[in-house]
Amino acid sequence: MLLLAAAFLVAFVLLLYMVSPLISPKPLALPGAHVVVTGGSSGIGKCIAIECYKQGAFITLVARNEDKLLQAKKEIEKHSINDKQVVLCISVDVSQDYSQVENVIKQAQEKLGPVDMLVNCAGMSLSGKFEDLEVSTFERLMSVNYLGSVYPSRAVITTMKERRVGRIVFVSSQAGQLGLFGFTAYSSSKFAIRGLAEALQMEVKPYNVYVTVAYPPDTDTPGFAEENKTKPLETRLISETVSVCKPEQVAKQIVKDAIQGNFNSSIGSDGYMLSSLTCGMAPVTSITEGLQQSRFRTSLGKSEGLMAPGSNQLGQVVAPPVTQDAGPPSRGPHSTHPRPGAPERHHCSTLVFLNCRPTWHGNPQWLPSTTEVVTMGLFRTIALFYLGSFDSIVRRCMMQRAKSEVADKTA
Ligand SMILES: NC(=O)c1ccc[n+]([C@@H]2O[C@H](COP(=O)([O-])OP(=O)(O)OC[C@H]3O[C@@H](n4cnc5c(N)ncnc54)[C@H](OP(=O)(O)O)[C@@H]3O)[C@@H](O)[C@H]2O)c1
Ligand SMILES: *[C@@H]1O[C@H](CO)[C@@H](O)[C@H](O)[C@H]1NC(C)=O
Ligand SMILES: *[C@@H]1O[C@H](CO)[C@@H](O)[C@H](O)[C@H]1NC(C)=O
Repeated sequence: MLLLAAAFLVAFVLLLYMVSPLISPKPLALPGAHVVVTGGSSGIGKCIAIECYKQGAFITLVARNEDKLLQAKKEIEKHSINDKQVVLCISVDVSQDYSQVENVIKQAQEKLGPVDMLVNCAGMSLSGKFEDLEVSTFERLMSVNYLGSVYPSRAVITTMKERRVGRIVFVSSQAGQLGLFGFTAYSSSKFAIRGLAEALQMEVKPYNVYVTVAYPPDTDTPGFAEENKTKPLETRLISETVSVCKPEQVAKQIVKDAIQGNFNSSIGSDGYMLSSLTCGMAPVTSITEGLQQSRFRTSLGKSEGLMAPGSNQLGQVVAPPVTQDAGPPSRGPHSTHPRPGAPERHHCSTLVFLNCRPTWHGNPQWLPSTTEVVTMGLFRTIALFYLGSFDSIVRRCMMQRAKSEVADKTA
């Protein structure tokens, strides 16, 4: 009898131990909180600042160009919800000198109080074939994207730990989850962020500080438009197999996940698939996150307007390059604007396959664990389709180039 009780106790303790990483933190209250956004003068960073401001936060924007900072400040201030709210602008290069970054963070804390949330959104992308990229490009991207996230984080972490409050957001990229043609320099700098974030999360979790890594897909920002000008053809064709997101939508998701203290933040069903495929031993900070990494939700795609009429049969839209035709028009040479009458997109993904309601649709319920295996297999299979189509794009471009070289020579 005693033995049985002891066994139960041990089992119970073991169970508690296993689920302990799944216990969610208390959500961060944004009203009155001080949020620092690096890269807050443009694109995703600006939208994150607006989203936080709308929820009552005080904002510090960090970027280099002062005119852009002031412009963004004006835009953000339009969204104030009370007259105490402040937007502070600080011009500094986050990638150059740690003591400089530390100083400006100190200034910001003196004016607006300790930092409750830091969003590391300053970053840039440069693409090109490995042998065409200058060596200095690798150094530059590593210093802006990686060190530019280390420095501000390092400057706020001690106070956060002391106060037992804090959120640190790192903005990686889908190219920080998989390597793609042309991104040898960019991808590695975005992969580095994940290593930093995972290690840091383990250090700071007992201090109630939570880390979020965001993996945005291609997003319609000034930075993206700039990068698009120099992309190799292959990179452009590959990136055109998925559609471009709105920065507002990306920002909303990031802010939501950061408040919750979720470790991963991704967008759309291809983002969901990528996060599931690449979760590895990333920290989990909530039961939903944990379960989603191992189970297939039957409610998947429930509220997504992407589904083309009649395409809700599993398997109807398997071949990835074709998915564009089944879904709403996505970015591409001939389809920059949505077709009139196309279904409203709540969601920026083109992975229509995942948006199809599974045939067993019904009440959301957790399926038995064989489904986990099936799901991972399914995701991996879809991933193989994608990789296959990317490889064929690269091969096609190569052959095209060879052909035109021959033509040039004979001409
Ligand atoms: N747009 C996309 O498709 C996409 C996809 C995945 C991930 N991301 C990531 O999301 C983040 C934001 O991208 P975005 O497209 O919104 O970029 P963006 O429009 O080019 O904005 C970049 C921001 O970062 C600032 N910045 C750049 N370098 C800096 C430096 N050395 N020091 C301080 N501030 C600096 C810029 O201001 P100043 O130039 O004035 O300094 C600007 O405010 C980046 O990390 C990017 O890699 C973007
Ligand atoms: C990217 O640039 C190409 C031309 O180089 C253009 O056709 C395409 O529309 C651009 N895409 C975006 C999203 O700006
Ligand atoms: C990652 O976060 C998104 C929300 O940002 C969520 O929908 C998705 O299920 C998460 N994926 C994993 C594997 O945790």
